[in-house]
Amino acid sequence: MHFQWYPGHMTKAKRQMQEDMKLIDLVIELVDARIPLSSRNPDIDELGKQKARLILMNKADLADESQTKLWSEFFQGKGYFVVRLDARSKAGMKAINNVVLEACKEKIERDKRRGIKNRPVRAMVVGIPNVGKSTFINTYAGKACTKTGNKPGVTKGKQWIRLNKNVELLDTPGILWPKFEDQQVGLYLALIGSIKDEILNIDELSLELVRILKEKYPGTLAGRYEVEEGQDGPGILGQVAQNRNCVKKGGELDYSKAASLMVDEFRSGRLGKITLEFPQRQE
Ligand code: G4P
Repeated sequence: MHFQWYPGHMTKAKRQMQEDMKLIDLVIELVDARIPLSSRNPDIDELGKQKARLILMNKADLADESQTKLWSEFFQGKGYFVVRLDARSKAGMKAINNVVLEACKEKIERDKRRGIKNRPVRAMVVGIPNVGKSTFINTYAGKACTKTGNKPGVTKGKQWIRLNKNVELLDTPGILWPKFEDQQVGLYLALIGSIKDEILNIDELSLELVRILKEKYPGTLAGRYEVEEGQDGPGILGQVAQNRNCVKKGGELDYSKAASLMVDEFRSGRLGKITLEFPQRQE
């Protein structure tokens, strides 16, 4: 799902989220574990400031586990509950239930003190496009879920998915925009495939990937493409083209084909579990 954000869209999305926030106890925010900060919306902290907060580090299957652990500690240090996740897999969803209850403990206790029994925790899934919100809702809710909500024709209301006796989830995720005015963020989003390729120069993108890999994951390019990592970016790209038989009709090396191949292999995880953004850099 790709979005073009304009100021009007952003205002509307923000207003919608402000309304939805009134209905919930917990914000379940999905981020991409490969770029945990760049895949966050700048306004979500302000929007959800009165709420319990859970960050799901999604696509953790594609990210560097040691960095995911550091990022979890980073977010926990800021008061969020954190769970690493592959939203496509059912494993781990049970653990989320427990964390949801833990995150909403205060509210549950408060209800108890006021004599309110068995009122489910209400949660909402939010995130920028493509982080896996729909996948998560489908997997988490599963087939057995029952939809609750206001009766049709009576009032136009929200649909809630009843997950179990303790938790209800708003059935439509809140979609917010990324910090795309930041060039570095734009680049990271492009690398993970969250910005349309047509508007990007794939050659430049691959050179950026080469730069990051050489610095943060030395040996990866050499291991996968049998290239000499001491060269500059174009040199490496040329060698990848040669070793992977990316040639044009006349026998000339096809740099763009090699660039696409490399970026595709990164996105699909074939280059390994790679995190682009490291937490210590943010401190
Ligand atoms: P959104 O609602 O936040 O926009 O995201 P959505 O669920 O549509 O997921 C975006 C893409 O990310 C989908 O791939 C989805 O399968 C994939 N995805 C979601 N969670 C995970 C995860 O934890 N790990 C990995 N590796 N991928 C994940 P797609 O290519 O757009 O669609 P499809 O190939 O699954 O059909």
